[in-house]
Amino acid sequence: MADQCPYLEKLASLNSENQNGSSANKTVAEGRLLQLLEGQTVPVQMDNLPTVPPSWYNPMKFQQGQNFARRHFAGISLAHFVSLITMLTSPQILKPLIFTQKSETVLKSFKRYIGTVVHVTSWYFGDVWQKDDPARRSIQIVRNMHDHASRQINHPDRRPQVDNTAMAECGQPFDDPSMLPCLQMDTQKLAGCPYVELRRQVNSKNQEDPYVYFNQFDMADSQFAFVGVIVLFPHKFGATYASDDELRGFIHFWRCIGYLLGIEDRFNFCDDDNLDLTRDLCRHYLDKMIKPALKDASAEFEHMARAVAKGASLYYPGVSFESLFAYYANVVGLPNTNFVKHMEIFQWFYFWYLRVVFSVLCWIPGVIRLFSAMTLFAIGLVVARSDTASWWPKSWKPLQVGGLDVFWNIKSKAKEKKSPQ
Ligand code: HEM
Repeated sequence: MADQCPYLEKLASLNSENQNGSSANKTVAEGRLLQLLEGQTVPVQMDNLPTVPPSWYNPMKFQQGQNFARRHFAGISLAHFVSLITMLTSPQILKPLIFTQKSETVLKSFKRYIGTVVHVTSWYFGDVWQKDDPARRSIQIVRNMHDHASRQINHPDRRPQVDNTAMAECGQPFDDPSMLPCLQMDTQKLAGCPYVELRRQVNSKNQEDPYVYFNQFDMADSQFAFVGVIVLFPHKFGATYASDDELRGFIHFWRCIGYLLGIEDRFNFCDDDNLDLTRDLCRHYLDKMIKPALKDASAEFEHMARAVAKGASLYYPGVSFESLFAYYANVVGLPNTNFVKHMEIFQWFYFWYLRVVFSVLCWIPGVIRLFSAMTLFAIGLVVARSDTASWWPKSWKPLQVGGLDVFWNIKSKAKEKKSPQ
């Protein structure tokens, strides 16, 4: 069997490289990653949204995960944003996003990602298992979006176009000086990705079958973006006092969301709710896949990442690609000397603002709740109807995006809790 399957062969070779006992857990993480990589050839089934929770669903853990996310909403949103930016280094994720032409300009990206923020927030605050709950409807809508995009992108007539998406499809380039040379200088000494031979390429001539976009591995890769840095570095995202049970709940929550979005159990990044194993897998994934990918960051990556940050700056004033990336690098221990040296003063200032608020001030009890309330308020201004917060000066209001208020159920939940019924 090991003779035929490249994944098992690789696992055997990795195991033999790690024969001392202290690396036992690391080997489990490696084995798990190899199993996830097998998902590259397995498409995600998006036909019917499961009507019942899976056998492993644990309502208490799920609730604990939701409570944790609500309490630390500001830090968790920041973690989602910085991780999203680094996820764009993967051509397998980037090309579909460029092809659909929904996030390559500042305005499109603002609308696209405020949509993502609102949908994900509705999962944190609502009931994804309850028919007709806004959170459940949101899951169905996101599945439909994925289904639609996947059919379009994997259609044989459009494949060559998707595989060859490049800067030409990214619209008007931004004026900002490129930070890619600094990034390359900083990362040049890092080791390459050991899994490169097992990573299927989008337009490789050596592969018999074309790459399946929206496959099970891509979904697990995206799950890492939602959980990875929170599980590894909670204290850098305002969750200074996160308990193991809270983190287990958060992992369980994202395991369930993965399930609802069509990830098979064997390819679920958050398999088994095991905190130690998930931590090891996250650490391994970060070191062996994410960091090496930044060595080859492309102009398309930089453009789309800038679009994400510029879009977000319309409701988080001051945010920039540079400050978010520098913060990520600082948190995960990625060399960033040249990158930080070439930042503008206001970008540098925001980078330090993030460090002071999320890594230091949040040690003071209550601070993360205050920032979370402020973050929810800022998003609420974009999403809710124009009469919301009528006392707030009109000239300070960000652009509003219609159609999302139906998922913005934070207020109604708060009212429900207060009401005696
Ligand atoms: C855990 C995995 C994932 C989650 C939680 C997730 C979440 C979401 C959400 C919330 C939206 C709605 C955004 C809106 O309202 O505009 C969305 C749309 C979309 N997602 Fe995902 N996603 C995941 C994985 C992926 C992957 C792996 C890909 C690509 C390979 C992808 C590509 C898209 C595309 C193309 C859209 C439609 C909007 C557009 O064209 O940009 N997603 N996703």
